[in-house]
Amino acid sequence: MTHDVISGGQPIHAPDNLKQLLEDILQQAMTVNDGKVADYIPALAEVKADYCALTVATLDGNVTSVGDSNKPFSIQSISKIYGLMLAMERLGDPLWERVQMEPSGQPFNSIVQLEWEKGIPRNPMINAGAILVSDVLVSHYSASKSALLSMVRGLCGSEAVCVDSRVHESEREHGARNAALAYLMKSFNNIESDVEEVLDHYFWQCALTMNTEQLASSLAFLANRGQCPRSGKQITSHRDAQRINALMSTSGMYDQSGQFAFTVGLPAKSGVGGGIIAIVPDYGVISAWSPPLNSFGNSARGMFMIRELANRLGLSVY
Ligand code: DON
Repeated sequence: MTHDVISGGQPIHAPDNLKQLLEDILQQAMTVNDGKVADYIPALAEVKADYCALTVATLDGNVTSVGDSNKPFSIQSISKIYGLMLAMERLGDPLWERVQMEPSGQPFNSIVQLEWEKGIPRNPMINAGAILVSDVLVSHYSASKSALLSMVRGLCGSEAVCVDSRVHESEREHGARNAALAYLMKSFNNIESDVEEVLDHYFWQCALTMNTEQLASSLAFLANRGQCPRSGKQITSHRDAQRINALMSTSGMYDQSGQFAFTVGLPAKSGVGGGIIAIVPDYGVISAWSPPLNSFGNSARGMFMIRELANRLGLSVY
């Protein structure tokens, strides 16, 4: 027997035995052998390639997981969502004069477009955009790191979320390209605070560690019109939740976002730690983790698992 949920006007035929379905998909994913674990810093290069986790957190409060769903990993660019939420709340619409809302069609750390477009990043999901958002946080919060950490802990209801200081330090040591992006934006007067302070915030948020259950629970408000289903608290306005989902749909999977929309059809965000989260409006959040990345920087098995689950349950928002 199945029960139906309506999401985006589409019925979702949620199976009674979701756990078994997740188990089947995870087993299949383990036969995908594409991809390479991120190796630009030792702390990521050392992570075992065969970790794999898949979680579905539904709005009724159920969290169903298989695999290594209790193992924390480096969330990297998924943190861009948390930073963006705080910046949208603090700055409102003027934020969109400093960062655009267009897909870049370029790798996430590309510099060329930023020069052509006079230091205004294409969107907040690429590195330049997230560094700009970090500037907003550093400029507008007296303690930007603790504001972000306490928000994330509150969202997932766990004090266990923390920052891996070794990853934070390594990000800084290998951060020349991000520094180039930040200084280029500063040269166009699009960074207000001290560049090194802004970069430190950006590297720090990339080093947040979470597991798939914490990730999925923390972002359930995006599937629920901005309201946290656990606490009932309005986290963002409905309109801001829609806007964040829209940005994820067009830019969250970098220059593979078009393919992801075409084959999966859900707002999603990935990170080079191998995590991916996907939002299913009015239903819940899917999160996947597997460290080997494809050539776009997206988890190869994570993409497979989310695509498979979305296709089997008919989850596309389109
Ligand atoms: O800033 C960087 O380039 C790294 N910390 C990677 C961030 C990231 O996850 C980009 N995405 N796929």
